[in-house]
Amino acid sequence: MSTALTESGTAATTARIEAHGITVRFGGLVALNEVDLLVPAQSIVGLIGPNGAGKSTLFAVLSGLLRPTAGTVLMDGENVSRSSPQERARRGLARTFQHPELFSAMTVRDHVVLAYRVRHAKSRIWSDLVTGRGFRRPPAQETARVDELIDALHLGDIQHRPVAGLSLGKSRMVEVARALAVDPKVLLLDEPSSGLDVKETEELAATLVRVVADHGVSLLLVEHDVELVLGMCDLVHVLDFGVKISEGKPAAIRADPAVRAAYLGEEIERADVQEQIAKIEQGEPA
Ligand SMILES: Nc1ncnc2c1ncn2[C@@H]1O[C@H](COP(=O)(O)OP(=O)(O)OP(=O)(O)O)[C@@H](O)[C@H]1O
Ligand SMILES: [Mg+2]
Repeated sequence: MSTALTESGTAATTARIEAHGITVRFGGLVALNEVDLLVPAQSIVGLIGPNGAGKSTLFAVLSGLLRPTAGTVLMDGENVSRSSPQERARRGLARTFQHPELFSAMTVRDHVVLAYRVRHAKSRIWSDLVTGRGFRRPPAQETARVDELIDALHLGDIQHRPVAGLSLGKSRMVEVARALAVDPKVLLLDEPSSGLDVKETEELAATLVRVVADHGVSLLLVEHDVELVLGMCDLVHVLDFGVKISEGKPAAIRADPAVRAAYLGEEIERADVQEQIAKIEQGEPA
């Protein structure tokens, strides 16, 4: 693992990915205002905040899809601000999408095999296609790695099924397995729990925590499910109106009045809550 010198001159571990002073303006709107974020090696970092806080915008800046108005993005200490998403992927950045983008007719296992070959045996993909021999007998190393990922994401029972018709929960597991097959250093997860039920969300959280421990990858997750984030992250960043309002361990975030105010402010805007408040004000039982 590489190290860098901090301002005080002591050695510190270089973050897998870090953003410094990120500002994004859309016309007159400041979507992000001088935001810093750091994802240390082998850690799970959460990014939360009310609707419109700037989470997806920061995600797009980190993955290289959006060029910020100002600020710098580093991977392993190297400036990648001007690198394309593809170049960042080559450096070890992988991401999943809010809506899984899978090939419906392909099996679960072939999704993982294909991703593995993109990273480890690119020429093989072309030779298989050109010679028309389909997927030839795979090398033992590939089989072992694909088996390991299928197993880690609990996809064994359905590995030979086409992904069409899989539940959203299972599709998400396939997406994560595929993302891990390229051996990323850091994986960005966009709303991984969206559309999942409570049990699937718990399973996903447990799986991700184990994957970090076993594979040494770092995770950054953008999530609406605050409890999920506070339950599984080492560090949490909170955005509100494009500004970082809090950063720290889950217990500190939970206790931070600024975070409560940001979320309370959002909840009060909800029609059902307003109705309750109106009733209370009118002296009716809520
Ligand atoms: N391409 C764009 N053009 C103009 N404004 C944008 C664009 N993308 C985002 N915004 C605005 O920037 C602000 C931050 O949006 P962003 O999507 O990053 O928030 P978010 O935290 O991801 O919200 P949500 O929780 O609803 O997904 C919002 O006010 C949004 O309307
Ligand atoms: Mg968003």
